[in-house]
Amino acid sequence: MNSTVYVNGTKVGGRAYGYSQFTIDITDFLVTGENSIAVHVDNSMQPNSRWYTGSGIYRDVWIIRRAAVHIADNGVFAACNGLYNNKAEARFQIQVSVHNQSSEAADIGVEHRLLDAAGNEVARDASALHIEPGCHAAAVVCPSIKNPHLWSVGDPYLYTVETSILWKGEVIDNLCTRIGIRTVEFDVDKGFLLNGVQVKIKGMCLHHDGGLTGAAFYRETWKRRIALLKDMGCNGIRCAHNPPAPEFLDLCDEMGFLVMDEAFDEWQLTKFKSAEYGYTNNFAYGYGQFFTENADLDLLSMLRRDRNHPSIVIWSIGNEIPEQSTLEGVRILRHLQDLCHHEDPTRMVTSALDNLASPEQFRTREEFECALDVAGYNYTARWGKRAEMLYDEDRWKFPARRFLGTENPSAGGIRGNYEKKSEYPFMPSYDRLTLNHEFLWRYTASRDFVAGDYLWTGIDYLGETRWPAHGAGSGPIDTAGFPKDTFYYFRSIWNRDDTTLHICPHWNWAGYEGEFITVIGYTDCDEVSLYLNGRFIGTKGYDCPNVGHAGAWNILARNTRPTTHDLHLSWDVPFEAGELRAVGYKDGKAVIERVVKTTGVPARLQVQADTEALPLYGIAHIEIGVLDPEGLPVPTADILIKARVEGVGGGSAVLLGLDNGNLIDNTLFGSGARAAERRLFAGRLLCVIRGIEKGTAKLVLSADAMEDETITFTIG
Ligand code: GAL
Repeated sequence: MNSTVYVNGTKVGGRAYGYSQFTIDITDFLVTGENSIAVHVDNSMQPNSRWYTGSGIYRDVWIIRRAAVHIADNGVFAACNGLYNNKAEARFQIQVSVHNQSSEAADIGVEHRLLDAAGNEVARDASALHIEPGCHAAAVVCPSIKNPHLWSVGDPYLYTVETSILWKGEVIDNLCTRIGIRTVEFDVDKGFLLNGVQVKIKGMCLHHDGGLTGAAFYRETWKRRIALLKDMGCNGIRCAHNPPAPEFLDLCDEMGFLVMDEAFDEWQLTKFKSAEYGYTNNFAYGYGQFFTENADLDLLSMLRRDRNHPSIVIWSIGNEIPEQSTLEGVRILRHLQDLCHHEDPTRMVTSALDNLASPEQFRTREEFECALDVAGYNYTARWGKRAEMLYDEDRWKFPARRFLGTENPSAGGIRGNYEKKSEYPFMPSYDRLTLNHEFLWRYTASRDFVAGDYLWTGIDYLGETRWPAHGAGSGPIDTAGFPKDTFYYFRSIWNRDDTTLHICPHWNWAGYEGEFITVIGYTDCDEVSLYLNGRFIGTKGYDCPNVGHAGAWNILARNTRPTTHDLHLSWDVPFEAGELRAVGYKDGKAVIERVVKTTGVPARLQVQADTEALPLYGIAHIEIGVLDPEGLPVPTADILIKARVEGVGGGSAVLLGLDNGNLIDNTLFGSGARAAERRLFAGRLLCVIRGIEKGTAKLVLSADAMEDETITFTIG
């Protein structure tokens, strides 16, 4: 936030909003020989956000050398205009804006080649432009291709548009833009349609911090994190509550997510962020201070930067904006939404509304909710008795409305914590973590007109918490990127490509012999039988709604087994050390088995790196645990691990840090150090290293009374 850029000591520009991309032409400030570029960031006025924003430079910065006549910043917009002839033809509109900074008029050629994923040319088009000196001009072509390979969640196929500018017989500028061929629609009756096919959005909200790497963007960190979300069956991401790093959107394009790109958390009215978060003053220095002057600039920079990403299916102009209850808010909404439509006629616009059912003085104005292309419903579950029912009530009231759950309860919890009373504020115990979402999902899954939901959140995040916690535990994945039990709840209802059977808690309950332990199961099997040390405990299955489980509503014959109305299974089992075994059945056949055993004490370290060959400045994730003498991972281990990196063969690496996902372990992450230490939490710890010089580097992990584990990395 509040950056100022200097070249050779002269102020050349800057930007108030820390999430906006901006470009400065520094040509006139450069001198022959050595130059200095300095960025000053003033993040001193706190609080200025409701979550951890990071500070300084946390995304890529580029120096771009351009010809005097060049493609303008974010000047290419390639949009799929529609699919025709039963999807056998795709039509495009490719628009390019060219800037002539030379002193003469330029007659240029503009060429576009459309390349498939293998680099083969599948279409080509060209046009010509005359641009007066100092002016911009735009060229538009409308090519079409036959038998397009469509982009979808399950098959995110990408094409590239290669744009070249020719002047005086030479190619003077060239830009590659990745696109996907797909159509997106929000429909009054059918919810969301991708390529004309109804898809329920099973989305998650994410803030931009990567846990121990903070706000700095690392592609590998986010690839690891969202690959887990993908495996969980999540197909959508809401970038809360600001535009993300552009490379994050590249990953979403490549991995097939349905993205909501969001501009703001505040318009003119700043949000209250005081006593609740430990601040003693009432004033907040959020984006509200800059909105009136900068909103258009910041919204345009998001739209122009991001509009080619096939993953983005909808724009959001704001999260829980207090102006939703004012007439001035309606005016601002119309203005911002018009800007979106003007820059990008292919996508709809929403805003996440939290006051749709509030008392009169805060209630969202009807003009506000009705002006939006898609009405964004935040926390239907917060509305007490009416809860999800509000969707049905509103459908009667506003028959032309499009519905989307823009933010709703996820299921988080504390990984590996099975206390019935938790140390964390507002955290239910492990046996009831998924209930809120279960209510919502039964509802959303059975209403076609609701496009789906983005849940708060997919992954735990830094900030927005109370001491002694340093983050919010609202995700099924912790800050270290380890799945919690609730991860398997979502997987069991969302991932239709694989069988899920997960049981918890662990079975290390020495001292609790004979006491009842609640065993929770998450599965997509029809039923599950549980055994303790070979003795049959009981068989459980799901009842209603069977949607997403049996795949249909009308398979009544299946409901003759003992069932529950919940979307999880549970058994009360008197503890006895040994082995819990669960067997899952589909159509009467055993298809999956899971075993949880009582383990012995920690005997040796277990380490696993996701790569041992790092590109220069690349990173590796190393997952650490401990095994008992039988080789079983000890789920309760909390021993102290020491990590240090050593250069060998001239290479060099640093620790980006250690994290165990425990939000009340306030040991420093150890970022940028050669050595750091942290305890395992619930048996696990993550170490991240970064290669900073070519060669070879060693990571040594040690713990008391155990042998060291060493991993050797090649860098560069
Ligand atoms: C929502 C808000 C999010 C987050 C969440 C916490 O109302 O949009 O940013 O604060 O509550 O539960």
